[in-house]
Amino acid sequence: MKMKLLLGTAAITAAIAFGAVLAGCDTSSNTGSSNDMHGMDMTDHTHNMDSLIGAPPAGMVMTKAVMMTRGKTIFEGICTHCHQADAKGIVDSIPPLLNSDFLMADRRRSMQIVMYGSITPITVNGKNYWNVMPAIGGADGNVASILTYVRNHFNGAADSISEDEVMKERMQM
Ligand code: HEC
Repeated sequence: MKMKLLLGTAAITAAIAFGAVLAGCDTSSNTGSSNDMHGMDMTDHTHNMDSLIGAPPAGMVMTKAVMMTRGKTIFEGICTHCHQADAKGIVDSIPPLLNSDFLMADRRRSMQIVMYGSITPITVNGKNYWNVMPAIGGADGNVASILTYVRNHFNGAADSISEDEVMKERMQM
């Protein structure tokens, strides 16, 4: 009984801490790169790409051009809340998506982070971070789009991550 109570308290404390991290991210546009520059609405789409832009309609051919366009919308509507509009992150708390050695080192890991979040200590470009990124839900085509966009636009890649690749990764988890 006492054990149960303790566990319950721990869970609540963790939930509050988690909420605080997220709230912190959403109000952290104080680094000069403002989120409202994009004229986006203030609805909370923070954790779901499909609620922001919809899942790709059945039959839509996910060419790289299509994914880049969708990825840009997703980046500006979701990722900027924490990683900032310039993708440079926030010193000591949010890692950069711009020229990120960590992001580019492992395609599978990058898909997992977008789908399932990240709560482990990580090192990006030689700097240590240990914070909470929530899972960003969304259809395979949207996960593929955001990663294709970030790899190409912010990391100088000339490739893409396909919807199929995301589907396979999801099935392995
Ligand atoms: C609520 C805040 C938040 C949002 C929204 C968010 N992230 Fe993150 N992201 C983080 C934090 C915090 C970390 C570091 C997590 C850790 O320490 O394990 C992180 C880490 C990452 C990493 C691995 C580290 C790096 O910099 O390469 C990738 C990749 C990433 N995020 C991509 C994205 C993408 C793409 C989006 C938009 C779809 C997104 N994130 C939205 C907070 C967020």
